[in-house]
Amino acid sequence: MSGLSCSATAIAHPNIALVKYWGKADIAENLPAVGSLSITLGGLATTTTVAFDPELREDVLLLDGREDTAAVRRVSGCLERLRRRLGTSLHARVESANDFPTAAGLASSASGFAALVVAAHAALGGNLPREELADLARRCSGSAARSLFGGFVELALTPEGPHPTTTRQILPPEAWPLEVVVAVTATGPKETGSTEGMLLTERTSPCYRSWVRQSPADLAAAREAVASRDFEALAEVSEASCLAMHGLMLSARPGLIYWNGTTVECLHRIRQLRREGIPVFFTVDAGPQVKAICLPEATARVEEALGTVPGVVRLLSSGLGEGARVAG
Ligand code: DP6
Repeated sequence: MSGLSCSATAIAHPNIALVKYWGKADIAENLPAVGSLSITLGGLATTTTVAFDPELREDVLLLDGREDTAAVRRVSGCLERLRRRLGTSLHARVESANDFPTAAGLASSASGFAALVVAAHAALGGNLPREELADLARRCSGSAARSLFGGFVELALTPEGPHPTTTRQILPPEAWPLEVVVAVTATGPKETGSTEGMLLTERTSPCYRSWVRQSPADLAAAREAVASRDFEALAEVSEASCLAMHGLMLSARPGLIYWNGTTVECLHRIRQLRREGIPVFFTVDAGPQVKAICLPEATARVEEALGTVPGVVRLLSSGLGEGARVAG
């Protein structure tokens, strides 16, 4: 807490899932149907300041300098959980800014909600354990829990534990410094948001049950690959999880097609690089952008290859980074 103003600023980074979360076990609680495993990107950041103010009658959100009256509802829902947990009724002014383009498809909601929870908790002078903050962030957006931690992170379903999900770091960023090259292939907003897409898939896809059944094995394989720094094994399970998720999306009715032609070209280019012995693999989320994960020595070669795929609008590169934290 900073004096009487009850204000704090936090920084959080986006994360990219290598074993994907898609589907909810409980919509009201935003409880994921599957665990997930991700890497946190250090080169891109969301900075959020939360100031609780007794004069305010409702929460206010400024996103990249502009008041956002639509997104404030979800932010308010998130603050409300913290208010209840910490016993206050104060409303807040939230100012949040990304240093990366939202259209880059880099899950700004993950870094956004992670920064929001950490800043609001600090502003209220709370001392909840990080695990509980992650579970609070998860209720706002599933992927946000993972941005509470740096490096390699796993969100596990823990119905027997103190919280229904437990998120933890499984390897610090410096222990295996991978690089991520994002190929931006379109800049418009996506047609179907993740939450809506998940609900449609669960309701209509004949493949949904087998997707949920496969997840524990993929998580175990990825956990093992990370523990032994086995790039080939991580490449195999990550691409499998990504392609299975997109297969699932395609099998919804109506099918969800998040890719464009350039997305597909990039996937072929990355597979070609790997055949040539370059340590790189791909993943794609609920949008058309392609994320290439590589060993640091391959970054320049990957950037060069993806930069020449027709339709690639821009490239963004980042190493791994730390979890959400109070700034200053
Ligand atoms: C494809 O975390 O955005 O990026 O919990 O409904 O807010 P909500 O969903 P969100 O979904 C992320 C889906 C994904 C895969 C992943 O990050 O694991």
